[in-house]
Amino acid sequence: MTIAYLNGDYAPLADVRISPMDRGFLFGDGVYEVIPCYDGNMVAMQYHLERLHQSLQGIALSQPESDAQLTSILSEVVARNGAGNLGIYLQITRGVVAKREHAFPEHPLPTIFAYAFDISPPSDGSPETASCFRAVTRQDQRWGRCHIKSTALLGNVLHMMEAVEEDAEEVLLFNDQDELTEAAACNVFVVCGDKILTPELDHQKLPGVTRRQCLELLETHTDWTVEIRPVSRDEVLSASEIWLSSSTKELAPVVSVDGKPVNEGRPGARWSAAQKLFQQHRFSSP
Ligand SMILES: Cc1ncc(COP(=O)(O)O)c(C=O)c1O
Repeated sequence: MTIAYLNGDYAPLADVRISPMDRGFLFGDGVYEVIPCYDGNMVAMQYHLERLHQSLQGIALSQPESDAQLTSILSEVVARNGAGNLGIYLQITRGVVAKREHAFPEHPLPTIFAYAFDISPPSDGSPETASCFRAVTRQDQRWGRCHIKSTALLGNVLHMMEAVEEDAEEVLLFNDQDELTEAAACNVFVVCGDKILTPELDHQKLPGVTRRQCLELLETHTDWTVEIRPVSRDEVLSASEIWLSSSTKELAPVVSVDGKPVNEGRPGARWSAAQKLFQQHRFSSP
């Protein structure tokens, strides 16, 4: 039985209720984090809190509890859910209002919700344990504030369905200049020749915690050339490897794009080496 947290109380998830007048429900007026946890230990908590601060700032909502209090709430959620391999979901919305009005309420009473879901431990870097993704490509049609980890994810959901409709699991998105932004639920790395490329951060991409960890691991533990710069559609389509990064997947290889195999449809050697670094060092991030 999953135990959730809502505004001060812990209860079985199935019994937790929120008001339909919560602005999270009415407007998607909230932000969230997903923190992976293995054997009861949360990964990169400090990085997740830093991004939460940025997201809250992006929607002009004051953090309703201190970092220490939020950490203690999430630790309690971990403990009450068996302290195993879990994704910890934390959502903060602008809370319940008396009237449905677009403008912010003068004195918001934010809603804090957290729950845990089971996750599989990520790959150890061997091709046998890789979660391989087939991807399609699309023009990025989401909004201009993708750097905020907003609960308003309809744009991402609709793009993900474009992948599902083509029997794929992710969608690689390109901006008006035909440069890679990210995927519907992941950041993207591309191996071109002997270089690892990933787009620079801006309002078209979420600043992924796993992207940040990956860049730090590659910098510290390899002599690979990593370039953070615009990545063209041609570079993506001719890449020898493409990796997706996200907290619950760490690095996952893309094995086909628009039906054409990448690296002959198999996880690549660079992916394997990079994912092995996560296996060894995932808890070294603050
Ligand atoms: C749109 C989008 N980009 C990137 C990511 C990866 O972020 P993180 O590595 O922090 O999980 C996610 C994760 O959910 C996402 O939804």
